[in-house]
Amino acid sequence: MKKTFYITTAIHYVNDDPHIGHMYENIAADVIARHRRRMGDDVFFLTGTDEHGQKIERAALKEGVQPIELADRVVMVHHALWKKLDISHDDFIRTTEARHHAGALELIRRIRERNPDDIYLGEHSGWYCQSEETYIPENQVKDGRPGRGAIAYDQDGHKVEWTTEQNYFFKLSKYGPALLERYRSSPAFVYPQTRLNEVIAFVEQGLKDLSISRSSIKWGIPFPGNPDHVIYVWMDALTNYISALGFGSGDDEKLQRYWPADIHLVGKDIVRFHAVYWPAFLMAAGIELPKRVVGHGWWLRDQVKISKSLGNVVRPYNVIEDFGADTLRYFVMREMVFGQDQDYSDESLLARYNADLANDLGNTLSRAIKMSDSYFGGKTPPTPCDDNDLLRAAAKAVPDYLQRMDDLAFQRALDAAWDLLVAINGYIVAKEPWKRFKENGADETLSRVIWSSLEALRIVWVMMAPFMPKTTREALARLGADPDRIDADALQWGGLANGVAVRVADPIFPRADTTAYIGEKKMDAPPLETTQAVAPGIAKISIDQFMEVDLRVAEVRAAENVPKSKKLIKMTVFTGEDERTIVAGIATKYTPEELVGRKIIIVANLQPAKLMGVESNGMVLAASIDGEPSLLSVDPAVPAGTKVK
Ligand code: MSP
Repeated sequence: MKKTFYITTAIHYVNDDPHIGHMYENIAADVIARHRRRMGDDVFFLTGTDEHGQKIERAALKEGVQPIELADRVVMVHHALWKKLDISHDDFIRTTEARHHAGALELIRRIRERNPDDIYLGEHSGWYCQSEETYIPENQVKDGRPGRGAIAYDQDGHKVEWTTEQNYFFKLSKYGPALLERYRSSPAFVYPQTRLNEVIAFVEQGLKDLSISRSSIKWGIPFPGNPDHVIYVWMDALTNYISALGFGSGDDEKLQRYWPADIHLVGKDIVRFHAVYWPAFLMAAGIELPKRVVGHGWWLRDQVKISKSLGNVVRPYNVIEDFGADTLRYFVMREMVFGQDQDYSDESLLARYNADLANDLGNTLSRAIKMSDSYFGGKTPPTPCDDNDLLRAAAKAVPDYLQRMDDLAFQRALDAAWDLLVAINGYIVAKEPWKRFKENGADETLSRVIWSSLEALRIVWVMMAPFMPKTTREALARLGADPDRIDADALQWGGLANGVAVRVADPIFPRADTTAYIGEKKMDAPPLETTQAVAPGIAKISIDQFMEVDLRVAEVRAAENVPKSKKLIKMTVFTGEDERTIVAGIATKYTPEELVGRKIIIVANLQPAKLMGVESNGMVLAASIDGEPSLLSVDPAVPAGTKVK
């Protein structure tokens, strides 16, 4: 029987459309789910929406609609977005669904049945934060003087109100020792370690009983036995993880199969609710605890958490539209060190797009396929190879990748894929297949070289599959591989068939014109105002603007003076990929003869220009001393095609 794997995201509030933080969480969960599925697990992946509580009640009131109307509308946005982002959840739970009501009521019933004193009616006063929907401990409230109607602020600047209510309470105080024992006996229960430490410190401080009903709010699940109250939103919301599996609805097949959850993936701000309250409720009800609560970091904008209440949201819908869902998926997983915070900007996304995707991943793919196409009649080469540097590089990269995926170190897992990609590029440059083809035609050695390059690329793409599901299918198809074969076996060397059709096509990631894109003000929100002065003098360019310049080493293969010109020399240069003509104004210093065989540095992606009737495809780099050119050169051992950066 397959090992089961149950992963959940937090359920998102419906007071606004999802932003980059919500997208990240679902993308990260999706990457994990897709990876576990292809490794053979029986995966259940749950996401959904948290629809009750004052926050939603107020947002609806503001719009002049009923809370459920607001929720229905935002839920549609969620569905459309997750579809667009290729999120492969197996179920979507809404806390307004009947199955969820049943689950929440059943949880309270079980607690009362097993531990009758754990839920009691009492009076509660404290600093209540409406935006967080929780009471804030007194030591976290600045200059607050308790008293009727008093208002103060918590550490995060949220407004808190002194509130007195008759509430039902849950005896959380009783569960401190059992919780601490749980953290001690299974330290993996909360990940990463910093979050575990915070949780332990919070519990060691001493837990107070928790108020689990509200009489001031109408929009919620009526408290069993007292319909003037609704169930406190966190008790309501947390139950989604089991109500979605049928808890309380009479059919517990899924609950038996998937519970306890393997991972509750949530933002670091709500780890406490998942690692303290939730396990305490479950202990009281006699239900097994989840195996792991994983807290990811925040996406920031200009170093501030992105959130609706702060009004600095980023919703990169246009990026998805213009560059594809896989670009956003790749970017967020590559850019963020899992568990830490990360600043978002369209500029850094485009820089990664051009450097990592268009250049590294995309160009290597087209280059290898083009060679196979032209040397082997549109097919993968006829001879495989099981002894070469790429096989050895893959034998290192794949286990590294798998280990890092298990460790949730996604950025480093992608690094492992890149190690192999870099090895492929180096291998192609070193083997100079174009030279071999010219000299010996499509012989067996060439077949092995090209096949190995394609095979290693296939493995790189299989590693990319959970991150970029759509593009992976396309890339595998172009390589002549089966787009559906992305399982554990497909990570092994030797999967690419010989003599099957490859597909030469447009770049899989066409380069983006970053300056034009940003210039067109495609960003969602205007940049925050800044008082930072811009230094006078030479205009600064960003690293991504620089990375757009394809600088590389080229070899001069032939050279001649351009007729009727004193300055221009026409050169045939080899760029590592092709031979092309470049015209340069260097005749005052160099003769054509002394240029041949020389390694120079060129800008390879310059738009073609005609100089004295000759089309030049690129530019040669030279220093200019009083107008006299001095060519930039490199060590002759550096192969043509090597990138300069
Ligand atoms: N409804 C509660 C969760 C209940 S779970 C039983 C909630 N909703 S939320 O919409 O505010 O947040 C949903 C998830 O998105 C949370 O895990 C939260 O941490 C995450 N993010 C919200 N803003 C974020 C960023 N700026 N960056 C990354 N994730 C953040 O909390």
